[in-house]
Amino acid sequence: MDDPLVTSFMRVLIMRAIITDFDSHREAIQSVREEVFVNEQCIDRAEEFDEREIHCTHVIVFEGDRAIATGRLDIEQNGRIGRVAVVKEFRGQGVGALVMRTIEQHAQQIAQHRLWFHAQTHAIPFYKKLGYEPYGDEFTEANIPHVTMHKPISAAIPKS
Ligand code: COA
Repeated sequence: MDDPLVTSFMRVLIMRAIITDFDSHREAIQSVREEVFVNEQCIDRAEEFDEREIHCTHVIVFEGDRAIATGRLDIEQNGRIGRVAVVKEFRGQGVGALVMRTIEQHAQQIAQHRLWFHAQTHAIPFYKKLGYEPYGDEFTEANIPHVTMHKPISAAIPKS
């Protein structure tokens, strides 16, 4: 019989996060964002996949061969994070935090000292737990209420 605790523990063990570009992992990125943003949140596909994709660095979390989460970092927009999404059945297991931590580690490595993004307001507590702070007024994007959030990123400690 499957023990849910053991199943959840095994899942975490076989998850891996990678840093990539859009063209190398287009299908994996699209599958997660189609499921979360287009199907679940009813965001228009043409709006969801924009001209910034090829300029961004992308994070994908895999469980085995399956892409289960993603996010992107736009350095040309001064460290703008976007499109953070975890497939529904994998939420609440630290996968979203893994996406954000992977982006932050990459930002440290490339000396990007501040990260910012437009957060859907329902996700503010998630980002706050990771040290991000909201600022400015609430606004609407893709028919969803948003607020801007940011966090300074400390420099990476050089290896001795
Ligand atoms: N409200 C309060 N706390 C939340 C939360 C919420 N909506 N979502 C996550 N958290 C907390 C978790 O409890 C956890 O806390 P802990 O460290 O004390 O255990 C911490 O934040 C990390 O949560 P995690 O399990 O890594 O989050 P997740 O994998 O469920 O991913 C989202 C969070 C927001 C990325 C995910 O819910 C999602 O993909 N939502 C749909 C897409 C979306 O709205 N993306 C955000 C666009 S701005």
